[in-house]
Amino acid sequence: MSIEENRLKVYVETYGCQMNLADTEIVLGIMNKSGYSPTQTIDDADVVLLNTCSVRDHAEEKIHQRLGVIKKQMSEKPELVVGVLGCMAERLRSNLIERHNVDIVVGPDEYRKIPQLLEGALSGSQGIGVRLSRTETYDDITPFRAEGVSAWLSVMRGCDKFCTFCIVPFTRGRERSRTLSSVVSEVEQLVAQGFREVTLLGQNVNSYNDGGSDFADLLAAVAGVDPNLRVRFTTSHPQDLSDKLIDTIANHRNLCKFIHLPVQSGSDRILEAMNRTYTREHYLALVGRIRARIPGVALSTDIIAGFPTETEEEYRETLSLMEEVRYDGAYMFKYSPREGTPAFRLGDDIPEGVKTRRLNEIITLQQKISHEVNQSVVGKTVEVMVDGASRKSDLQLSGRTGTNKTVVFPAGPFKPGDVVSVKIGRASSATLFGEIVEDFD
Ligand code: SAH
Ligand code: SF4
Ligand code: F3S
Repeated sequence: MSIEENRLKVYVETYGCQMNLADTEIVLGIMNKSGYSPTQTIDDADVVLLNTCSVRDHAEEKIHQRLGVIKKQMSEKPELVVGVLGCMAERLRSNLIERHNVDIVVGPDEYRKIPQLLEGALSGSQGIGVRLSRTETYDDITPFRAEGVSAWLSVMRGCDKFCTFCIVPFTRGRERSRTLSSVVSEVEQLVAQGFREVTLLGQNVNSYNDGGSDFADLLAAVAGVDPNLRVRFTTSHPQDLSDKLIDTIANHRNLCKFIHLPVQSGSDRILEAMNRTYTREHYLALVGRIRARIPGVALSTDIIAGFPTETEEEYRETLSLMEEVRYDGAYMFKYSPREGTPAFRLGDDIPEGVKTRRLNEIITLQQKISHEVNQSVVGKTVEVMVDGASRKSDLQLSGRTGTNKTVVFPAGPFKPGDVVSVKIGRASSATLFGEIVEDFD
């Protein structure tokens, strides 16, 4: 048997946001160093980990069900170790052991403890690590990334905004930033490994701060690593998005002209109740400045329907804001009460049927707007980075523009990461379709 075959195999399922995807790679990096190998199939795993999300009740319910299924399917494999990581681990702690009899529960700031906790679990003792840290950034851990062209990279952790509906500040703890130099050297390694795109991640990247270097400084430094590396980032809080950051995006060709700028609501009273710390007017002025300085920029957003006490009129202000901004895309959610958040105390007074109707109308409006916005690209030639075969057919390739639009075109001699020119012939609300006009890689 080779050494490789002797190693215990770990299978991880990741739920929730991109931060969790990046964290899973950090966890695999830690475990790889301690003698575990990742596997893509649950059946040959010695350790099964679920990296979980608490942001809405629905997200948690899905995990509870999945844990039930895994425990049942694996009942004839009693030596299997099952663990819960991520935001649910932080929120529910020992309740997860009581409810599902899992072996380890580890929150986002204690991943270095996983090997030690697993050692205990493999010899039969359950373990918990859920302390939050003011300093942990996993700066020195090399994430274990699958080969590919696109990489995630967390540049900060935690959130200090305390929007009243949101569980994240409780599950992820206080804001802290990685050093600029460690981010830049990781990006240099990514380029050397063949990655062509990096997405810098944080719950609120605009709060990035490394001894006076702000997020604009970090973006400029990362953009400078390689002019052919595409650089993306998410998420921006509207309060902290500075003019300096807007100019930095405008001035670097390889910084993608795409900003995810969650608004949540179009009503000042609701924004205040959400503690979003900006008004509709401030937000619209910011959008105006972004559009004036970054021609062709694409914008997306997050919207919540049915926040406690939201009146019909206030909900309509969200619709009118959407009409005014005309987002390229949006993630839209029904309000979900999270125990322990300030909004929880307001109750959940909008009836389920009303929330559903509001959400559906919001989705319908956004689809119409996305469709119209995408029509304006028809006839134009766009620069597309190839991701791979399209979801529907091997005869077609799929890629993305700098503005984060998915483009589908007939397959040619291209590999993932190649940049090609595609002339757009038609567009739906979600996808642009076109033909290659030239490749300039
Ligand atoms: N840090 C990011 C968002 C993180 S959570 C930001 O501030 O933009 C992603 C999205 O989930 C939020 O923008 C919000 O729209 C939604 N969300 C968070 N908590 C929610 C809740 N309790 N109910 C419904 N949607 C919620
Ligand atoms: Fe949650 Fe607000 Fe922080 Fe985003 S900024 S993670 S919505 S508290
Ligand atoms: Fe979910 Fe935690 Fe991300 S709650 S959205 S996995 S920060």
